[in-house]
Amino acid sequence: MQVILGVIFAIIFGCVTVFGQVEEQVVDIFSDCRKSAPDFDKCIHRAFNDLRPLFPIGIPELNVAPFDPHRSPYVEQRRGDARGGIGGFRLILTNVSEHGWTNSEVTKYKTDVENNRIVYSQFFPEKSLDGEYMFKAQAFGNPANTKGIWNLTLYNYSQTTSVTRIGGPGGLLKVRVEIDKIENLSMHISNFFGGRTVLENIADVVINSMWQTGFPIIRPLINDLVSTAFTDIFNESFRYFPLDRFIKD
Ligand SMILES: *[C@@H]1O[C@H](CO)[C@@H](O)[C@H](O)[C@H]1NC(C)=O
Ligand SMILES: *[C@@H]1O[C@H](CO)[C@@H](O)[C@H](O)[C@H]1NC(C)=O
Ligand SMILES: *[C@@H]1O[C@H](CO)[C@@H](O)[C@H](O)[C@H]1NC(C)=O
Ligand SMILES: *[C@@H]1O[C@H](CO)[C@@H](O)[C@H](O)[C@H]1NC(C)=O
Ligand SMILES: *[C@@H]1O[C@H](CO)[C@@H](O)[C@H](O)[C@H]1NC(C)=O
Repeated sequence: MQVILGVIFAIIFGCVTVFGQVEEQVVDIFSDCRKSAPDFDKCIHRAFNDLRPLFPIGIPELNVAPFDPHRSPYVEQRRGDARGGIGGFRLILTNVSEHGWTNSEVTKYKTDVENNRIVYSQFFPEKSLDGEYMFKAQAFGNPANTKGIWNLTLYNYSQTTSVTRIGGPGGLLKVRVEIDKIENLSMHISNFFGGRTVLENIADVVINSMWQTGFPIIRPLINDLVSTAFTDIFNESFRYFPLDRFIKD
């Protein structure tokens, strides 16, 4: 009995210590940053990069979920009317995982106090996403429904993220992510042609060799998808984040 109690205590105590250490690390990382100081933005820029080792674990005691991988259970995008209009579609991505934050680097950071907003740019040598998809569209008068799995790897990829708080402390966060640059990508979509392998292989080659041609068209789609996913994740992780505990006036 005592042995079991001892083990339980050790586990509980062990967890508390580990969690406490993570929070302490966060306190340390932000300790030099003063809101009133002229180099505040520079300080936060450095702090964001110093947080990287924490991305795979998150900050459990503050309900900040791990960032690497990032997971999103459901992202939906609609254009027009998927049942009738030309070019209308509905795309649902489920069980999305995103890898690569730990090796990313914040390259610019700016606080926009007036608009309750922060804006930062980030560079990823390699960022990969995968998940399941469901696609509904009206193509040439025929309904097209298909589902399968997909993955996407972006190389030397930069993005700029703005996070705006709507309302006071505890208000919702709105996230907008814009792609700045992609040096290369590879993308695979299974079953897009209902298992017709030849078409699928052709599409695979076309996507991977000609993505730059189609990029202006898919760029807003990717921006929207990523922004939607991040709005949810940020709401969940950072809406009630006690920022004032870490950043002093
Ligand atoms: C979601 O993806 C993970 C791995 O990426 C997998 O282990 C899990 O079974 C998937 N869940 C569902 C509901 O498909
Ligand atoms: C990414 O950038 C690095 C360093 O600038 C370069 O060596 C590498 O070839 C680039 N990779 C791709 C896929 O463009
Ligand atoms: C881009 O990626 C594709 C697929 O991985 C590869 O075949 C191609 O050589 C790459 N191009 C460059 C410029 O790195
Ligand atoms: C991406 O998907 C393709 C086709 O489904 C699969 O063959 C490949 O192994 C996947 N790549 C990664 C890195 O998951
Ligand atoms: C997060 O906030 C946005 C913007 O107001 C809202 O549309 C979205 O539904 C919220 N998501 C969650 C999970 O609270």
